[in-house]
Amino acid sequence: MPKQILLANIHQSNLQQIDNYLAVGGYESVSKALKTMSPDGVMEEVKKSGLRGRGGAGFPTGLKWSFLDRKSNKPRYLVCNADESEPGTFKDRYLMEYNPHLFIEGLIVSSYALGANTCYVYIRGEYWYLIEILERAIAQAHQKGFLGKNILQSDYDLQIYIHPGAGAYICGEETALLESLEGKRGNPRIKPPFPAVVGLYGCPTVVNNVESLASVPWIVNNGGEAYSQIGIGRSTGTKLISACGNINRPGVYEIELGLSVEKFIYSDEYCGGIKNGKKLKACVPGGSSVPILPANLICKTAKGEDRLMTYESLADGGFATGSMLGSGGFIVFDEDQCVVRNTWNFTRFYHHESCGQCSPCREGTGWMEKVLHNIEYGHGSMDDIDLLWDIQRKIEGNTICPLGDAAAWPVAAAIRHFRHEFEWHITNPQEATRPNAVYRGNQLLLA
Ligand SMILES: Cc1cc2nc3c(=O)[nH]c(=O)nc-3n(C[C@H](O)[C@H](O)[C@H](O)COP(=O)(O)O)c2cc1C
Ligand code: SF4
Repeated sequence: MPKQILLANIHQSNLQQIDNYLAVGGYESVSKALKTMSPDGVMEEVKKSGLRGRGGAGFPTGLKWSFLDRKSNKPRYLVCNADESEPGTFKDRYLMEYNPHLFIEGLIVSSYALGANTCYVYIRGEYWYLIEILERAIAQAHQKGFLGKNILQSDYDLQIYIHPGAGAYICGEETALLESLEGKRGNPRIKPPFPAVVGLYGCPTVVNNVESLASVPWIVNNGGEAYSQIGIGRSTGTKLISACGNINRPGVYEIELGLSVEKFIYSDEYCGGIKNGKKLKACVPGGSSVPILPANLICKTAKGEDRLMTYESLADGGFATGSMLGSGGFIVFDEDQCVVRNTWNFTRFYHHESCGQCSPCREGTGWMEKVLHNIEYGHGSMDDIDLLWDIQRKIEGNTICPLGDAAAWPVAAAIRHFRHEFEWHITNPQEATRPNAVYRGNQLLLA
């Protein structure tokens, strides 16, 4: 049985009830940290653990915490990013639903380490049922003395507030999130300054993902060293993977980092293989923003080594032959799926979600969407493939926030690995899905 840190006990009892959670050792890290450890001591353990941010970028959590401006006499904030809007990613909602107190416990010990007396959870607005679960869990934690003033008779105070978003993917980007939390339009900020110095209301702020923070209680209880022993190399600990697409067992799995991709896809413990006995065609291993990999590069790297579920192995080969672990949204495509249609669908999403501040992203995502639409619907030309390549190149690295890159990478990878599918759509327009609509400039014409 693989190590369970985040989903341990979830099938045994209703962990939404604090008494059930306490019965399996819940909130022990709060008592341990507040009674026996200094805030810096907690931070040291998180550094030692090698825990990396689970929101997508994989930045080391302890290092991020150490950037927090400690000399400032302004209040410090911990903001938890529970926006989870990346297509294919649905692991944070599972964790918050089935183990809400572990999440709250993580917020408490992390806030203590950072010296924050206020913590905000910015949660995706569509997760309304989760807001109710979390509000109930927070009320129970207050009743038991884990939240509020003088927690467990210490001199440490903490309040947690849940703040629902209004349905914008861009508000998952940490600085857009802070703008939105301040009541403004969710436009990403230009960095530097980084939130650790100028964050929420101009104060030092750490923004972390739900899963990152929920990993902290185990680290406090067992030590950073013990956590660093799980996983491989710089990919330490466990990771939640939300698996979907043409697989027999879609769902959320907690894996030890270092598991082979082949085992993850084919073993009955995880995805259970490809549905209806079909062949594997492609995989997007880390949410819609990361490059798609063709079947021959999913389970093996270009060097012929086993591909592992780690930050390093999934990226092996760079973008030429690799991808990214990202947020852990693992999307599997069987042989019948159309890569052009999927790329158009993802690009439509990024165009819709672009905040519009930078022209390469605002104009480029819309342009790519239209060109992809034309190809998919049988109105494309061979030049369109080069045009798409050119547009994505001009977006990547030229924008305020990574949404631009997130829109460019899937297009680049689809052309790199599946150019023949684009060409097939162009040379076989009669086979296209619905060949009666075409974009000319900004106008959608019906033939
Ligand atoms: C467009 C966009 C959307 C994002 N959405 C999320 C999200 O829903 N949840 C999340 O944790 N991080 C998201 N991120 C990453 C955050 O900006 C940030 O890196 C993360 O919350 C930091 O937490 P971590 O270090 O614990 O991973 C997004 C980034 C971008 C550019
Ligand atoms: S890259 Fe796109 S989403 Fe990000 S700031 Fe620029 S326009 Fe807005």
